[in-house]
Amino acid sequence: MLGKEDGKVRIAVLVSGGGTNLQALIDAQDKGVIKSGEIVLVVSNKEEAYALERAGKAGIKAEVVLRKDFDSQASFEERLDALLSESRIDIVVMAGFMSILSGSFTARYPDRIINIHPSLIPSFCGKGFYGLHVHEAALRYGVKVTGATVHFVNEIPDGGRIIKQKAVEVMEGDTAETLQKRVMEQAEWIILPEATEEICAEIARGR
Ligand code: GRF
Repeated sequence: MLGKEDGKVRIAVLVSGGGTNLQALIDAQDKGVIKSGEIVLVVSNKEEAYALERAGKAGIKAEVVLRKDFDSQASFEERLDALLSESRIDIVVMAGFMSILSGSFTARYPDRIINIHPSLIPSFCGKGFYGLHVHEAALRYGVKVTGATVHFVNEIPDGGRIIKQKAVEVMEGDTAETLQKRVMEQAEWIILPEATEEICAEIARGR
């Protein structure tokens, strides 16, 4: 289970891809935007995730847990849970982690797992809405404003309580790629560090 020692709240970041949100968290920690917590562990479910390079460069312990190495989702999650416990993790930040965690896993960490989603929930979220699909749906619908959301994670994909949101304008001629880039730069990379610090500060105060 969780166990914050005196000092910084211990953060684990779960990744699967490029790790630009992890990088935003690392940079925020270096700049003192994240000051109540410390990233002590990165876990990827993909061996080739560039996020692992970013963790290495920042001197952060990194682990890979591959679903194919386990005969069930439950044993995969048991391994993940063991890694979090070994590092005495207080809060889990899902930053582009492309694996749905079960309700029994998330129930072990009530209000201690947060996720960044690249839309203004409840728009364009839930099953099937990930990565570029989210921005393709926003463009298809013709919304003039989209953005990003940080929310607590529970058993419903993108269903937990909303912590922070930031709106981003959809521009004429946007493609899913140009929109994704703007949402990352102008929203995700700002609100994920801010939300992480807010939650860490609450935990540090004894929430
Ligand atoms: C981001 O767009 C994030 O909103 C979504 O997955 C992408 C991860 O990108 N969950 P990165 O790995 O942080 O660069």
